[in-house]
Amino acid sequence: MLSIAILAAGKGTRMASSIPKVLHEISGKTLLERVINACSELNPDQIFVIIGHKSKEVQDSIPHSKNIKFIIQKPQLGTGHAIQVLCNQVEKNKGNLLVLNGDVPLITSDTLKKLLTLHDSKNADVSLVTTKKKNPHGYGRVFIKKSFIEKIVEEKDCNNQERQHLLINAGIYCFKWGKLSKTINSLKSNNNQKEIYLTDTISLLNKSLSLEVDDNGELQGINNRIQLSKCEEIIQKLIKEKHMLKGVTFINAPSCSISEDSEIGKDVIIEANTHIRGNSKISDNCVIGPNTFIENSIVEKNCKILNSTVYNSQIMDHIKIGPYSHIRPNCKIYSHSKIGNFVEIKNSQIEDEVKVNHLSYIGDSIIGKSTNIGAGSITANFDGQKKHQTKIGKNSSIGANTVLIAPINLGESVTTGAGSVITKDSQDNSLVISRPKQVNIENWKKNKS
Ligand code: UD1
Ligand code: CA
Repeated sequence: MLSIAILAAGKGTRMASSIPKVLHEISGKTLLERVINACSELNPDQIFVIIGHKSKEVQDSIPHSKNIKFIIQKPQLGTGHAIQVLCNQVEKNKGNLLVLNGDVPLITSDTLKKLLTLHDSKNADVSLVTTKKKNPHGYGRVFIKKSFIEKIVEEKDCNNQERQHLLINAGIYCFKWGKLSKTINSLKSNNNQKEIYLTDTISLLNKSLSLEVDDNGELQGINNRIQLSKCEEIIQKLIKEKHMLKGVTFINAPSCSISEDSEIGKDVIIEANTHIRGNSKISDNCVIGPNTFIENSIVEKNCKILNSTVYNSQIMDHIKIGPYSHIRPNCKIYSHSKIGNFVEIKNSQIEDEVKVNHLSYIGDSIIGKSTNIGAGSITANFDGQKKHQTKIGKNSSIGANTVLIAPINLGESVTTGAGSVITKDSQDNSLVISRPKQVNIENWKKNKS
């Protein structure tokens, strides 16, 4: 039987934040979510999340799940105290208990599996993940004697010699839960931090083993924002390198960020300062950026998006967007269309081969195939209370600076005169024009003087 405890009750004072530490995010996911995801891959029987500081916020951040239970630790007297609270609340302390610090977010299920395998195959009382750090500052130092761990000494309790020791405790442990329960209540807080340390159980248990892994960034703990940023860098490097090996070119990789859940096709070029977030998909042969932000959107093949922002939308193939366009949620833009300079589109369907080239706002609209929207044209979709729809049929030509007052339905092959304010629906093939006739008053200047 496998149970897991995730320690997430601390405030995270060193983050200098009003948000609990485990709710800070890296690459769009909270630290806690990441640890839970790694644990879930082990199919545990139950996961206990120990919460305390801002417990409601932490609990609410996790979607309801049958095998996740929350244990309240108040006050928070240390990592050992957290596990005391757990052991005293749960009746059956059977099988293995895997304990993870909630602030070590890059831990992989592979490493956890290795820990469990070592623990079971060697029949250990406790096994924990260690690594040698060039700079071990801040971590507990792990001392091994005759292949068993003798003790862990926290940074603040180290003497000068112990502080030089490079093998550190990653904060990830597998215990025989029955044995842990018998020793956990004897932990004391007679140390420099006056905390009850979980790490003190090691010297109380008989057979303590170390799974030493390479220091590849996976075990980076987060106590402050410098370490938060370090983890972001580590994860982004991994994500981008994965895409590079699958055929994506990054022109300036360090300036770009890609979410884990985004897909990118072959021969896509990601230019500098481009960010692809959420659940996005970029298909083959697109050029994205520079300076582009895409979130929760699908971009089909052969698109070029430059200096633009796209949210929750679908961009079909062979489309050019930008520079400086803003595609707001709920847009579907069909093949071979062109959305040009300084254009905003929201909740609209733009059919094939449409051109909206310059300085337009299109909201709540359906624009038919091959229609051209002249420079500066605007759909006036809001009457102060409600949003209304604009429909323009195919092959239409909207003159520059047309204002379309919605709700409005222009037919197919309609032309509007430049500068018109259109308030009434029109038939197919009409010329629609609404502007005062031009008056030329001759010799005007001469008469005035
Ligand atoms: C801890 C370890 C240290 C290890 C390091 C790895 C102890 C005593 N020390 O130190 O050996 O090298 O992690 O990153 O365990 N928490 C609670 N309740 C509490 C206190 C803490 O749930 O009462 C949670 C925190 O929210 C955090 C985790 O436990 O997620 C670790 O606590 P933290 O104070 O960050 O421990 P470290 O000083 O980093
Ligand atoms: Ca920590």
